[in-house]
Amino acid sequence: MAVSYKTIGLVNTKEMFKRAINGGWAVPAFNFNNLEQLQAIIKASSELKSPVILQVSKGARSYANATLLRYMAEGAVEYAKEIGCKHPEIVLHLDHGDSFELCKNCVDMGFSSVMIDGSSLPYDKNVELTRQVVEYAHKYDVTVEGELGVLAGVEDEVQAEESHYTKPEEVIDFTSKTGVDSLAISIGTSHGAYKFKPEQCTRDPKTGRLVPPPLAFDVLDAIMQKLPGFPIVLHGSSSVPQEYVDIINKYGGKLPDAVGIPEEQLRKAAKSAVCKINIDSDSRLAFTAAVRKTLAEKPAEFDPRKFCGPARDLMEVMYKQKIVDVLGSDNKLAQLD
Ligand code: G3H
Ligand code: 13P
Ligand code: ZN
Repeated sequence: MAVSYKTIGLVNTKEMFKRAINGGWAVPAFNFNNLEQLQAIIKASSELKSPVILQVSKGARSYANATLLRYMAEGAVEYAKEIGCKHPEIVLHLDHGDSFELCKNCVDMGFSSVMIDGSSLPYDKNVELTRQVVEYAHKYDVTVEGELGVLAGVEDEVQAEESHYTKPEEVIDFTSKTGVDSLAISIGTSHGAYKFKPEQCTRDPKTGRLVPPPLAFDVLDAIMQKLPGFPIVLHGSSSVPQEYVDIINKYGGKLPDAVGIPEEQLRKAAKSAVCKINIDSDSRLAFTAAVRKTLAEKPAEFDPRKFCGPARDLMEVMYKQKIVDVLGSDNKLAQLD
């Protein structure tokens, strides 16, 4: 039987996106696949009184089991209240949905928001599929994110060699024909921990670190001019903190030349109509750094809580830093008491 997200205390993205755009901040969209990530996300967002989007990818559903993840999100609402956040605003969102059936299944099982990613399809097919999802989801007041333009890297099973920026001349037609609530765009971000090839970057002469090229803010500006006040989403927005990469490499890992999006660029984006910023890889890096360090320093340890605990703590630190320093979403719940 279908379950409404409203009965389990979740919210859709509509109101929080409005507030984020008007207030010049962005809502964090963090992916989760396991208990520790979920605990860290809820602890960080609840303690800082930030709205939050819990994202579940198709890969997460097959890793952790779709039903379990959905009930974990229901539990997250209660956990947020238990740790002192009386009025949490938690969205359960499908990340990179690739079919009508998958989106429908998520709506039916209590998701409050879904993404239908038709960005790799021909334009007309993307419009058709996205409109079909919107028609279904809106019957249940579930918000829908569509995507135009292609991000380099891996989007679940879809792998693109190159990014293709969103064409500003398409955005009015796409949003009006589909009725989407938000639009993911491509302006130079990409998924994963290798967002740019070394030859696309310069090197800082002092540190020897890669310095990535800037995002295409001119494309973002052109899109915002066409769609004033319309909610824009940025995928692929991990900054790949070099301190985590260094810990991973120091303790036996191999992540040479991993590079992300500089945080000052994300800060600038968050002040615009970009109202949802997707971060997954930074959580994976924090988790791996803490696990590698703990196991290297305590080789006799074999209780997973002893290395998953530090991993959870480091992810919490990372999520809090993003909320406060990058997204500016702290103290932005509609009801703070
Ligand atoms: O968009 C990609 C997200 O980081 C999800 O990654 O498909 O490996 O779960 P995943
Ligand atoms: P990152 O790989 O940069 O964390 O991007 C995550 C994302 O866009 C999820 O949809
Ligand atoms: Zn993404």
